[in-house]
Amino acid sequence: MSDDPIPDWHDLGDATELAQAPLHERKIGRTRLAVSYVDGDFGVVSGVCNHVGGPLGQGRVDARGYVTCPWHGWKFHHVTGVGEPGFEEDRLPAYTTKVEDGRLWVDLASATARRKKPHAPHPLVQIRRRGEPGGPAKDAPRRVLGISTTQMDPANPRTSTSEMLLEVALAHAAARGAETQMIRVRELSFRHCEGYYSKSAQACTWPCSITQMDASDQMDRVYEGVVAWADVILVATPIRWGAASSLYFKMAERMNCIQNQITLADKVLMQNKVAAFIVTGGQDNIQAVVGQMLTFFGELGCAFPQFPFVGHSRGWSAEDMENNVGYVARSESLREGTRGLVDRALSLSNALQGSEACAAEIARGGRKAHALTERRSEE
Ligand code: FES
Repeated sequence: MSDDPIPDWHDLGDATELAQAPLHERKIGRTRLAVSYVDGDFGVVSGVCNHVGGPLGQGRVDARGYVTCPWHGWKFHHVTGVGEPGFEEDRLPAYTTKVEDGRLWVDLASATARRKKPHAPHPLVQIRRRGEPGGPAKDAPRRVLGISTTQMDPANPRTSTSEMLLEVALAHAAARGAETQMIRVRELSFRHCEGYYSKSAQACTWPCSITQMDASDQMDRVYEGVVAWADVILVATPIRWGAASSLYFKMAERMNCIQNQITLADKVLMQNKVAAFIVTGGQDNIQAVVGQMLTFFGELGCAFPQFPFVGHSRGWSAEDMENNVGYVARSESLREGTRGLVDRALSLSNALQGSEACAAEIARGGRKAHALTERRSEE
């Protein structure tokens, strides 16, 4: 007697219609399928990705016949379900198909076994905290990261008042024995946040889905700086129409994945980190700009020194920006205030090391204080 399972054929639809597009998603009962048509061949594989369950039937088929997951780009052959070259041990269930009387049929009983090959984690997954093996020694110099979010044409640079004060801050931190690093966000090429969290909470991963898929995306420099490297993060922005710069928001949106780890997995990636801000503009609204930054970096897990920012603006009526540049350049009180901000940030950073003040795990923080499952059941 044969051990072959009894076939379990299901009608997937009109074959001519299905052949009009390379990929369709179909569901039979609870079984999700990716139904493909490439170079005259139908293929049916599981529609659930091996990685974190992305909807393969909503992805694409590449020129080699691999279904590409829309969440993070893992690839599986559209007929065999075998992972792309280098990942052949990764396999999706693949199904036998047939075309009869113009209809495409799938035999669910023919499913091959799913196999998962462990993938090397992205380097950013392995954060080495201060004092941990592979991380900086507990007593190593503090690390101060400056992030400048002003935009300018590199071929015709101008003087930025916010960046000018950030440079003062880093010079002072270095003079106090800290290691320093500057990231000028305008020098990075990176994509806008593409809203993976809105596709599915699980589609927003650490590091960002884009970072995992697109090796040319340079947001990893910011992630590495803020999550892995820095003890103190100084963010500088100009004021643009009463808000932080558009480059700041482009960066902040891509940092959603840091905050979402708290929401999704109770995982605080940024612990014992101090953030402080430098906000300058010819016109006003410093309180609102800093208010947003305090909220955002607070929700990432950062702590703030007493009096956590330096702000400067000459008011709504001041349109003579060239005079503003000169004013900031000459202002010893702004430089003194900036150095004081660095001193307070370093003091807090020192105090936080070894303390329990900033937890590595926490019941979801801030306004995300609801369990994800509860939120879902309310929807
Ligand atoms: S869920 Fe498919 S690649 Fe991540």
